[in-house]
Amino acid sequence: MLSPRQAIGNIPSYHPPLAGREGLRLDFNENTDTCSPRVLERLRSLRPEELTRYPEREPLEAAVAEFMKVSAREVLLTNGVDEAIHLLCQVYLDRGDEAIIVVPTYSMYAIYARATGSEVIRVRADQDFRFPMAQLRRSITPRTRLIAIANPNNPTGSVVAVDELLEIARLAPQAAVLIDEAYFEFYGKTILERRREARNVFVARTFSKAYGMAGLRLGVLVGDADQMWAVRRACSPYNVNAVALACLPDALADQEYVQAYVSEVLAGRARLERALQAGAVQHWPSEANFLLLRVGPAKEDAVAFVEQMRRRGILVRDRSADEGCAGCVRISLGRREHVTRLLYALGDVFEELGIAQGVSLL
Ligand SMILES: Cc1ncc(COP(=O)(O)O)c(C=O)c1O
Repeated sequence: MLSPRQAIGNIPSYHPPLAGREGLRLDFNENTDTCSPRVLERLRSLRPEELTRYPEREPLEAAVAEFMKVSAREVLLTNGVDEAIHLLCQVYLDRGDEAIIVVPTYSMYAIYARATGSEVIRVRADQDFRFPMAQLRRSITPRTRLIAIANPNNPTGSVVAVDELLEIARLAPQAAVLIDEAYFEFYGKTILERRREARNVFVARTFSKAYGMAGLRLGVLVGDADQMWAVRRACSPYNVNAVALACLPDALADQEYVQAYVSEVLAGRARLERALQAGAVQHWPSEANFLLLRVGPAKEDAVAFVEQMRRRGILVRDRSADEGCAGCVRISLGRREHVTRLLYALGDVFEELGIAQGVSLL
């Protein structure tokens, strides 16, 4: 009888609640509104031959390289950051190797690493989700072949200084060190300019968040040219679809749109923070387009909260299953009017569930 490889059977199942996401979607850290109007215009102007041809990635890699001020040999366009993670696991991890992640974090690191048959070392974040530098240093062994760090991290919104990231990369020269900057546009700080200080550093970016193009699946992986040939070899030549590639120049050209959206998100995040402070609801500082808060001590509290929000037409994400996140919910920020809707609903739900009473959240 046919059976999958053992490593695949060992992957814990992961079912993001993707079905029937009706309402205001603040559950996946997507852009809550739209992508740039220039991208929409380009979509409307697509010609049939742009679809009949196989996609040509390279000219667009040159454009992205210029935008990011890196060389084209250092850049690979990917089917979202997810594919970049998948490729790094394929290229660097063998059965018996170790991949280190700092938890709680983005689920796909562990999933793709486990699929290779390697061992995933989960280093717990320090108090208040601070970066566990000392513990991470101690976790590096000669078998460490991948270290994946989201900066800012999901679901906590916490960050780590570039100096610390470089120190980790130097301590593990035999490992690929992925710095996942999916939320870069909301944070503004990057390791990119200093990537050459450690040749094993890879940087990932995405068009799924600030750019509002999650459905097109477009990510960027930057790494040392002496490594990227290997990543390219493991990658399909047609991994990024022609529609995404066609839209890319307009997406990059409209930085005004990205900046305006980011400013609105940051203002919304500050509003939500003020509201949570007023209600004495525990939450953690975030450098991304979302905020993690605790609505009670247990998973049931988070489940009840998510359900009450859903009844008011707003989707938020229960993160109770993540390490140290019992009773926690992650809420994405977006356009001003969406944050206003969120705050109205939050006030109601806090009152109803007795989380915070009589506070004006607006
Ligand atoms: C840290 C992090 N990396 C990567 C991704 C996925 O990005 P993409 O849509 O480019 O695959 C997410 C999405 O939530 C994320 O939070």
